[in-house]
Amino acid sequence: MRLAPPVPILDVIRCYASSCSYIPELAVIAPQQFGIAISLPDGGTVTAGDAAKPLSIQSISKVFSLACVLGRIGDQIWTRVGREPSGSRFDSIQLLEIEHGRPRNPFINAGAIVVTDELLAGRAPREALAEILGLVRTLAEDDDIHISESVAQSETMTGHRNRALAHYLKSYNNLLNNPEHVLGTYFHQCAIEMSCIQLAKAGRAIAGLPDASAIISLPKARRLNALMMLCGQYDGSGEFAFRVGLPAKSGVGGGLLVIVPGRASIGIWSPGLNVFGNSHMGTHAAERLAHAMNWAVFG
Ligand code: DON
Repeated sequence: MRLAPPVPILDVIRCYASSCSYIPELAVIAPQQFGIAISLPDGGTVTAGDAAKPLSIQSISKVFSLACVLGRIGDQIWTRVGREPSGSRFDSIQLLEIEHGRPRNPFINAGAIVVTDELLAGRAPREALAEILGLVRTLAEDDDIHISESVAQSETMTGHRNRALAHYLKSYNNLLNNPEHVLGTYFHQCAIEMSCIQLAKAGRAIAGLPDASAIISLPKARRLNALMMLCGQYDGSGEFAFRVGLPAKSGVGGGLLVIVPGRASIGIWSPGLNVFGNSHMGTHAAERLAHAMNWAVFG
């Protein structure tokens, strides 16, 4: 029997992944690109690869919209959405029927749509969106961060599952606003573009690093970290906690915001996705970095 020649580890990691398939603007992005930025307590940033290239943050925006809502109404949001892992895909509708329209957590799509609906209460979609974008710009200290209209339009054309989720929530009276207004806001928040460097900077407040913006208080950051650890990678959250041991939030644009409480905030980007819809190489990179630095919260 002939054995296959040894394959370098990076080639093995690279060959499994393809970019997000259901948002046409993201589907054409080359999956093997890679960038990383690590923001450290002293304010310094270590970067490698395409760390300055803008990526579509997609579901990473759910951390920021939740931070806005927690600032606005605090614990009241938990009457509308749970905080338990779902164990199912990010766009699944299954549990919503079983649990009578109350999404399991704010990071699956159904939960994030409820959070965005709450942000819309009593005001125009433009204003809610400005609040999320404003928070991200303040945290990253960069007013150049913007929304890609073409990515937002692309998802508007193909976001049938989110449309189903929004109407399903409405049928259970867990959506207060017009579903199209909520979805328009949600698709636009997902289409925010940031580089790994900007993401790492924005995560400093969640990591509780010195001199980070005080907009996200430490008790709020503690809760965001708990949710990121348990629900940040959807049905891949257990595997991620097992391998990496750090709170993190993924997006189908291939971005990953990884928090090392008190020590670092990390932005990673590689558009090729694993079976859970999370960055394939990004997860490998987070795992190797956490081990090399002894950063896993479980020691
Ligand atoms: O709602 C969606 O399907 C996308 N805008 C975001 C999903 C996402 O990023 C899932 N994360 N891995």
